[in-house]
Amino acid sequence: MNDRKFRIAVFASGRGSNLQAIIDAISHKKLNCEICFVLSNNSKAFALEIARNNNIPAIHLSEKNFHKDNFVNSLIDVLDQYMPDLIVLAGYMKLIPESILKICRNKIINIHPALLPKHGGQGMYGMNVHRSVFQAGEKISGVTVHLVNEKYDEGKIIFQKEVDISDCKSPEEIAEKILKYEHELYPYVIQKIIDKEIILSE
Ligand code: GRF
Repeated sequence: MNDRKFRIAVFASGRGSNLQAIIDAISHKKLNCEICFVLSNNSKAFALEIARNNNIPAIHLSEKNFHKDNFVNSLIDVLDQYMPDLIVLAGYMKLIPESILKICRNKIINIHPALLPKHGGQGMYGMNVHRSVFQAGEKISGVTVHLVNEKYDEGKIIFQKEVDISDCKSPEEIAEKILKYEHELYPYVIQKIIDKEIILSE
């Protein structure tokens, strides 16, 4: 019998609250997988700290520290070593290099704190997203999970959940409300992928 657990890698650049939610979902048996490593382009990302505190390999890999193709080769080495079944971007601020996209076709997902294709694209991260939603006067925002391609927030949408934000009086209130949904929904979607109830294909 093959009892190898489904393996996910989490890429994060910042505070890592979605990483923490995934870790919590695993420990509460709502999510049946293991995190084989956490990678960040930012050595100071709290996500790396969370990984270390949970005995998960924490890898800092930044393009800035490499010449030309060496960054991609190092990333390939990491992937070869840990062999994740799925790469989960959770607040990862960098584009994934094309050669990695080719190797990991239909294996990389991202979460976005709004209803794409609206309020997405380059520069639409963190509070910028929620400010844009607020300024547009939206009454409904939400959470999107999508496949990752060579452009910011443009891969095929695999899951979306609408959230009523008509009670929110500021971008900060929208951010707080949406983040709670992200923490619930990202582990849920990952489990659906593991169970093949969501099939990743372009
Ligand atoms: C989340 O809002 C996610 O949707 C976006 O970046 C944020 C990351 O937050 N892609 P955290 O680092 O998981 O707390």
